[in-house]
Amino acid sequence: MIKKIAVLTSGGDAPGMNACIRAVVRTAIYNKREVAGIMRGYDGLIHDEFIPMNVKSVSGIIHRGGTVLKTARSADFLTEAGMKKAKLNLEKHKIEGVVAIGGDGTFRGALEFSKICSIPFVGCPGTIDNDLVGTDFTIGYDTAINTVVDAVDKIRDTAESHDRLFFVEVMGRDAGLIALRSGIGSGAEAILISEAETDFEKLIQHLKESRKDKSSKIVIVSEQSGTGTVVALAEKVKKILPFYDIRFSVLGHIQRGGNPSCMDRVNSSRMGFSAVEALLAGEKGVMIGIINNKIAYTQFANAVKHLDEIHPDLQRMMRILAL
Ligand code: F6P
Repeated sequence: MIKKIAVLTSGGDAPGMNACIRAVVRTAIYNKREVAGIMRGYDGLIHDEFIPMNVKSVSGIIHRGGTVLKTARSADFLTEAGMKKAKLNLEKHKIEGVVAIGGDGTFRGALEFSKICSIPFVGCPGTIDNDLVGTDFTIGYDTAINTVVDAVDKIRDTAESHDRLFFVEVMGRDAGLIALRSGIGSGAEAILISEAETDFEKLIQHLKESRKDKSSKIVIVSEQSGTGTVVALAEKVKKILPFYDIRFSVLGHIQRGGNPSCMDRVNSSRMGFSAVEALLAGEKGVMIGIINNKIAYTQFANAVKHLDEIHPDLQRMMRILAL
């Protein structure tokens, strides 16, 4: 029987991670299990940064962005020496189950680690990118897209006042889901994502033709869309459409911060709660997700990034509504 659980956050932080940590700690305590926090993800596991956690240590954090356990992208954890140290530290602290909150790098790490350590790991999907199989929404995605929509609404005000064309770059290391959804939500005139090849001629044509109908234009560009930086894109378009007053904006890390939305708080709580229940029921090597509003388990090996074509239906609708 598992007597002591540890929880860590790893990879890029995401709003809702704190709500998830809170749920893990309180569910463990409710079940009369001890619980420890590991600071700075897998780096803290290697460097023995364990802290005891209790009901009070997670009070007043459900509404806060970031992660109270801090996070890191650990290169050392993937080395043999790093994994050995991590194993020794888990044993030293008598940890018998770990909840790892993070993205696909976190789960790949846990999977590798399982080859040398039999202590069970269960994951919760924490990344603003929403690029994991096994859950409809990852922790932080809803907040991030709302942050983008809020920012683009503000850009729209000034774009409209000056009759300007804006290129707005949004995050998404390997996936254009932030761009797609926030672009639809903010009524963008075009959305450029890596999953759909950008037809530059068509974009130019669209910007030219729709000029008579609308004074402001917003083009959402996913950071890895394959069209280059928004700076280069803005310059390129300016040469072809000199009549446009063009500006660009890179939203950057504001997308990762801020108070989590209610949806992120609730989903994160459900996932943290279910992660502990899964560990106590003997599960290991699975990510907890929510599919069609129901808790679902996905093997770490399958919970990796999905880089397929995304939502062709949404893309088609977007193009029609952006006339
Ligand atoms: O994976 C989350 C994410 O915010 C990506 O969207 C982005 O590409 C990346 O992290 C940025 O990472 P960092 O903060 O380490 O530069």
